[in-house]
Amino acid sequence: MSVIYGKRIRLRAVEREDVKIFYEWVNDPEVTRGLALFLPMSMTDEMNWFDSLAKRDQKEKPLAIEMRKGRNWRLIGNCGVFDFDAVNSSAELGIMIGEKNEWNKGYGTEAMLLLAGHCFETLNLNRVSLRVYSENERAKRVYEKAGFKEEGRLREAVYKRGKYDDVLIMSILRSEWAMEKKEK
Ligand SMILES: CC(C)(COP(=O)(O)OP(=O)(O)OC[C@H]1O[C@@H](n2cnc3c(N)ncnc32)[C@H](O)[C@@H]1OP(=O)(O)O)[C@@H](O)C(=O)NCCC(=O)NCCS
Repeated sequence: MSVIYGKRIRLRAVEREDVKIFYEWVNDPEVTRGLALFLPMSMTDEMNWFDSLAKRDQKEKPLAIEMRKGRNWRLIGNCGVFDFDAVNSSAELGIMIGEKNEWNKGYGTEAMLLLAGHCFETLNLNRVSLRVYSENERAKRVYEKAGFKEEGRLREAVYKRGKYDDVLIMSILRSEWAMEKKEK
C-alpha cells in the first residue's frame, strides 16, 4: 500500500513513533467522548496495540492522518477500515482527529473522503458503513458531508457519561460514491 494523498492531507502507515501521540489522544476525554474507549490507557496498552498490528490483515491496518505544514507533514489523527467482509464486499470505517486545535477545519471530512475513495477504488468494496453516537454532532456532520446516509438507529446501545445514547449506523454504497464523483 502506498501513501494516499489528498489536497491538504495524506494517509500513511502508522509507525511505532506515532504511539506516543496516540497515547495522548486516547487519554483525552474530549477526544474519546465519541469513541468506544472508556478507561484510561497506559503506554503499555498502546504499545501492545501497536505490536498486535503486525498480525493484522494489510487491508485493516490503521492509517495515520497527516496535514501539510509548509514543506512538512504533521500527524493529526488516524483512521482505518475494519470488519472487512470479502464475500459481501463491505467493511466498516473509523476515524479520530486527535489534535483538537485542528477540529472544524475540514480535515475530518477530507480524511473520510480519501478513506472512502480508498475503499471503493483500491479495496474494491461495494458498501462502507460506520457507527456514530447520536450526540456526536460534529462527526455526524462530517459523515453527511462525505456522502454517508443514516440507515439505522440502535436505541440506547451505548452507555457513556452516566447515560445511554443511541448509536446510528451510516453507510455509503459504491453506486452513490460514483454518482457523487460524476456530479463534482
Ligand atoms: C469527528 C471528527 C473526525 C471531525 O473532524 P473535523 O476535522 O473536526 O471535521 P470537519 O472540520 O471536516 O467538519 C466538522 C463539521 O461539523 C460541524 N460541527 C462542529 N460542531 C458541531 C456541532 N456541535 N453541531 C453540528 N455541527 C457541528 C462543523 O461546522 C463542520 O461542518 P461544516 O463544514 O458544514 O461547517 C473529529 O472531531 C474527531 O476525531 N473527534 C474525536 C473522535 C471522534 O468523535 N471520532 C468519530 C467517532 S464516530
